[in-house]
Amino acid sequence: MSPTGTTGPTGTAVRRYVVIGAGGVGAALAAGLTDAGLDVVLVSRGATLGVVRERGLRFTHAGRTRVLDVPVAGGPDEVGLRAGDVLVLATKSQDATATLPRWAWAARTDGGVGADLPLVLLQNGLETERVALRCFPTVVGGVALIAARHVVTGEVDVANAPRLGEVVLGAYPSATAPPAARAVAEQVATDLDRAGWLAQPVTDIERWLAWKLVASVTFAVGVLSGDDDERARLRTDLAAEARAVLAAAGRDLADAARELTHDRTLAAVAPSAAHGSGQQSPWQAFARGAGSEVDFLNGEVALLGRLHGVPTPLNHALQTVLGRSAAQGEGPGVHSVGDVRTLAG
Ligand SMILES: NC(=O)c1ccc[n+]([C@@H]2O[C@H](COP(=O)([O-])OP(=O)(O)OC[C@H]3O[C@@H](n4cnc5c(N)ncnc54)[C@H](OP(=O)(O)O)[C@@H]3O)[C@@H](O)[C@H]2O)c1
Repeated sequence: MSPTGTTGPTGTAVRRYVVIGAGGVGAALAAGLTDAGLDVVLVSRGATLGVVRERGLRFTHAGRTRVLDVPVAGGPDEVGLRAGDVLVLATKSQDATATLPRWAWAARTDGGVGADLPLVLLQNGLETERVALRCFPTVVGGVALIAARHVVTGEVDVANAPRLGEVVLGAYPSATAPPAARAVAEQVATDLDRAGWLAQPVTDIERWLAWKLVASVTFAVGVLSGDDDERARLRTDLAAEARAVLAAAGRDLADAARELTHDRTLAAVAPSAAHGSGQQSPWQAFARGAGSEVDFLNGEVALLGRLHGVPTPLNHALQTVLGRSAAQGEGPGVHSVGDVRTLAG
């Protein structure tokens, strides 16, 4: 694909979103931004890229299925990076370490490298902002609240309606980020609000990332077999361990119910959605055989526990059971809540 209109009427660079990762979150971003008339390129890889190139990315939202009319590229060379680009990483955390340097050190068509561009991160967990800051000076952290389902390669279904989802964005690290990062967070929030999301810029993104981690450590329970009560108890216990390690690490948590200022019902998840019954992104990754983010979710709790001397037996046990399972290419439901409880002792 070739970029069009790289400068506006006043000679300033036209903003273009380069969304890296054509999965659940990436497709919902690209759909909304392109519907809002903003310039977007969606970046994919491997088998997903092949499918999307052949028959497009099928996107379902609010009862309507369509093929997204968005240019798709296979990497930075095909995108042709330039001033005005905003990089948005919408991959899983485990892919960030390999992906980010590729974009950081890609040559721009107008001189310089990708690392000069602003980077927005939308991963669950606490790690990708740190990874990004090694190469990128202008980093915006984000928390996406969306029920996006990507089980069939190249097909994404969003269960939130009428809006696509909620997103919280803030310069990272909030205390020392350059003013440019704060301006990017504000601009991207404005654009995403136009693009069918409920977007809120914040000045304390670390508190939101920590708050989301407490929820995210419960998502992989959906990969396990077990009755609803057993699974609910395990979720509660995993979240309690997460809160304990975050407290030991001196991390304050946001209070979304109080601090989100938009009408959250506008991005409500349909009660019938499979995502609500435990088929969140870890379940989908196991179903798709697409690797596991668990090391960055439950493994983050284990890491913080080790750093701060707080036991995290359940998060460690869940990480171990699912780490082995993913390595063996197993699908969801092979291991049980009981297996995790037994391993945790
Ligand atoms: N899904 C949700 O509802 C949801 C909600 C809130 C937050 N999140 C978080 O958002 C992040 C993204 O999750 P997701 O569910 O959107 O994941 P996903 O559906 O697996 O999509 C990620 C996509 O990124 C692609 N990718 C990985 N490395 C790449 C690279 N170097 N270049 C191009 N594409 C690359 C993957 O390719 P392959 O197809 O080859 O794997 C995959 O298609 C995760 O941190 C997740 O926890 C997800």
